[in-house]
Amino acid sequence: MLELRGIRKSYPTPQGPLPVLRGVDLCLAAGESLALMGESGSGKSTLLHLAAGLDTPDSGEVRLDDRLLSALDEPARAECRRRRLGLVFQQFHLVPSLDVLDNLRLQARLAGREETAWTRELLRRLGLADMAGRYPEQLSGGQQQRLAIGRALAARPALLLADEPTGNLDERSADRVLALLLELVRDSGCALLMVTHSPRVAAPLDRCLRLSRGRIAEAAL
Ligand SMILES: Nc1ncnc2c1ncn2[C@@H]1O[C@H](COP(=O)(O)OP(=O)(O)OP(=O)(O)O)[C@@H](O)[C@H]1O
Ligand SMILES: [Mg+2]
Repeated sequence: MLELRGIRKSYPTPQGPLPVLRGVDLCLAAGESLALMGESGSGKSTLLHLAAGLDTPDSGEVRLDDRLLSALDEPARAECRRRRLGLVFQQFHLVPSLDVLDNLRLQARLAGREETAWTRELLRRLGLADMAGRYPEQLSGGQQQRLAIGRALAARPALLLADEPTGNLDERSADRVLALLLELVRDSGCALLMVTHSPRVAAPLDRCLRLSRGRIAEAAL
């Protein structure tokens, strides 16, 4: 459902263009889960942004379902994101002026697909049912992280893109949040592309790839 072919991406720097991705190929089937590892600065977030259509490659193709995402303009890419994707970033990007419940249903509402029963189930399974009326600043880091995951899943995306979704939690909270994420992903049947530094986090996923020197290799844990 997601296919990257021959992706190249450089960033301009004062010293000239910095090549980050030098011909990346990646394929993800519906319902499949894939961990993306690699050193800091290897281009994992860059790749995720391209897959989400938040940025465009210098060359190569990004295909989401049968649409050539990399050839669409920004409004059309945004429409694809709303219809098909859930995004979880390291920074939670919660809306400070909305309470827990409204943050949770934001994406689903934008996508025109709010399901009250699923929203309520998410709140409960994320352990946020008693906090529906709180604002993000009144939540702990782990609670904010769970809310960000719930928001991404509330619209029932076909593909969840997650960039170190437990990166700034302590190990125990990270494990709990991750187990919950994987359980919700499995139940909803969506595909998962998750960036992580941790082999432990990558282990339960179907496949693991490593990004190194701008290219992708199948990785053993
Ligand atoms: N907007 C930008 N302008 C210039 N250089 C950038 C920009 N964004 C990222 N880079 C550089 O591109 C490289 C890849 O960055 P990226 O954020 O994709 O790495 P990463 O693998 O996600 O790293 P981390 O594990 O630390 O999050 C880095 O060297 C970074 O400094
Ligand atoms: Mg990153």
